[in-house]
Amino acid sequence: MYSTNNIDSILKWYDIHKRSLPWRATNDPYKIWLSETMLQQTQVNIVIPYYKKWINKYPTVQSVANANLDSLLKLWEGMGYYSRCRNFYNAANIIINHHNGKIPDDKFFFQLLPGVGEYISGAVLSIAFNKQYPAMDGNQKRVISRLLGLKKLSKHNELRIKKKLKLLVNCNRPGDINQALMDIGSSICKPKNVFCDSCPLQQSCKAFLSEMPLSYPEIVKQKPISIKKMVAALISYRRKVLIIKRPEKGFLGGLWELPMVEISNNDSESSITKYVKKYYGLNIIVEQNLGEVNHAYTHFKVKIVLFKCNCEYFNKSIISGQWIRMFEIKQYAFSKANHKLFNLLTVNNV
Ligand code: ADE
Repeated sequence: MYSTNNIDSILKWYDIHKRSLPWRATNDPYKIWLSETMLQQTQVNIVIPYYKKWINKYPTVQSVANANLDSLLKLWEGMGYYSRCRNFYNAANIIINHHNGKIPDDKFFFQLLPGVGEYISGAVLSIAFNKQYPAMDGNQKRVISRLLGLKKLSKHNELRIKKKLKLLVNCNRPGDINQALMDIGSSICKPKNVFCDSCPLQQSCKAFLSEMPLSYPEIVKQKPISIKKMVAALISYRRKVLIIKRPEKGFLGGLWELPMVEISNNDSESSITKYVKKYYGLNIIVEQNLGEVNHAYTHFKVKIVLFKCNCEYFNKSIISGQWIRMFEIKQYAFSKANHKLFNLLTVNNV
């Protein structure tokens, strides 16, 4: 039986049940910061192999600052939200150039770094530097809204949750409190399932006492998301294909892709031909429809049809473009949607 002192109960539970995770075997702020950056939008089981590979290759902030962004993006490939990787790289350079290579242990200065907001600073400062800051992620929000019996995640209620979290981390193990709440959220107090009898907060949890814990907090209906139609081209010239690097800033920044464009009509063949002529100065001839792929991002979905095309002689180089052999694809970082397009090549025996 756990006591009614929430802090003691949480810590007692954590000491017995905490998950053994690679970033928990260290107190190196760099490694903890990397892990929290990866974990911010990606699930634990997906992050683990990425984290291990990264630490193996880049064991220090200095090694990240010395790296080139393309190699880092290649390591990040498949995890999505690539701005996290770019920000991490830029922040590592700032740390080397302006903070003597040391990760700031002061919230104000830490949050000046690109990609470091309220969540990352709270998580890293509490876990690596034992500072009393909450790290309010989705799991923590749900656990505390149930503990306090809050139905709506309004601005006002979010402030109440934050206030409660601040009280909980006001102890000598703030990092463990934060990580314990994350673990409780992922293994006991799940969005659609709860195991209240295993929860250290059961005795004081308003949602448990209501006997309808799953009604806290209310699920907000998502707006239906739009589908973008796109057309892509696999353009071959002398056994090489054209790939394009996306601008460093913005969506999927710095990643490579096949030339592609959004369309509003159904004439995908002439759209891609005109697009490639206009932006890359190439005359292409569409040879074969290789099929289509679907991919979902957070705020929209894409449906991409892929054409195999040939290219007439050309004489100017393409800014942001590169002609590569198919086997060289693995040296470049592509988005998931592009890998789905490459799978179409295997399916079609191209
Ligand atoms: N999610 C975000 N940060 C985490 C951590 N440190 N441990 C487990 N899950 C997490």
